[in-house]
Amino acid sequence: MAFQQIKPDVLCVGAKHWDRRLFDELVPLPQGTSYNSYLIKGSEKTALIDTVEPEVKDQLFRNLARAGVSRIDYIISNHAEQDHSGSIPMVLEKFPEAKVVTNPKCKTMLQDLLPLEDKVFIIKDDEEELSLGNKTLKFLLTPWVHWPETMSTYLIEDKILFPCDFFGSHIAASKLFVQDEGLVLEAAKRYYAEIMMPFRMKIRNNMEKLSAYPIDYIAPSHGQVYDKPELIWNAYKDWVSQEVKNEVVLPFVSMHGSTRKMVDYLIDALTDRGISVKPFNLTVSDLGEIAMALVDAATVILAAPTVLNGAHPEALYSAALINALRPKTKYMGIIGSFGWGGLMEKQIGSLLNKMKVEYFPPVLIMGDPKEKDFEALNELADAIELKHSEL
Ligand code: FEO
Repeated sequence: MAFQQIKPDVLCVGAKHWDRRLFDELVPLPQGTSYNSYLIKGSEKTALIDTVEPEVKDQLFRNLARAGVSRIDYIISNHAEQDHSGSIPMVLEKFPEAKVVTNPKCKTMLQDLLPLEDKVFIIKDDEEELSLGNKTLKFLLTPWVHWPETMSTYLIEDKILFPCDFFGSHIAASKLFVQDEGLVLEAAKRYYAEIMMPFRMKIRNNMEKLSAYPIDYIAPSHGQVYDKPELIWNAYKDWVSQEVKNEVVLPFVSMHGSTRKMVDYLIDALTDRGISVKPFNLTVSDLGEIAMALVDAATVILAAPTVLNGAHPEALYSAALINALRPKTKYMGIIGSFGWGGLMEKQIGSLLNKMKVEYFPPVLIMGDPKEKDFEALNELADAIELKHSEL
């Protein structure tokens, strides 16, 4: 992939990872990803903002060569995670005159992860600047998107924000700028759900801070560049708001069909009451799809049978995931069928310790559902409808 230009002397020289299908050995990447490294050529100095995943570093070096770069003065490190920092040692090897510019916390983390000596660093604190001659970089600490050391770099003269992971999306695309807004918003929502959602409050604070700066372009370090920044800005405003939707996310697993009958019945009962339902069979669902559904829903009902005397392990995994992602869900409940053991509610509850939610009474039944069990599901649907009507 050749380098591409955002504005004169501001180039994207990063790498595409078209066929990567998993991130952190956890997060599915249906559209691959990119690691966007940006080159800024000032009248006096040249800066490279973030590097790339070491596995695809050759693309970065090829793009730098094609762009005719013979000297890099500064490598700006917005975030210490290795998909952006991992190639810094190789860039320094090729451009030994370069200094790594970052904030104090990021320096510590970079040195924990990479063989970088103190002498290669220039440390910048919040809102400090770095002149490249006719272009000026301003460093804005934007912590917890999604690590504690994360910062954004703002190119003052061109009004370009380089926020690294913040506002990013896992897409490998040959076009630099967003073309298909629906596709990008879906990918960005998936990305937000998977790694940003637990930090909603911090994101709100960061957005308030960034709103003081005029921004013509948002150039994240994954996915395409936003030349209409309000697209992603407004989406984030919605995702981090307190508002929830009249929706129920229903992750489920069923072994012999009893829990499945309960799930099917509850889907109909909720739908009849005008409530949107997003069911996910945990044995075949993409984790990212579940995470995305959790962004807006008012309620999560987890449905599972018991295995031996505890909850099905898929349900435990799902509870642990929900607890880690900390969506803005307001209500939760558990339904399911058991044979002889009844530890499911306690087990699942213990995994949801970070969720500040109100619980509906569980509907846990023995064996195949009977008339009285369906009646209990009707009562659950009524209770959900009532709570949602108060939103
Ligand atoms: Fe794209 Fe947190 O690294």
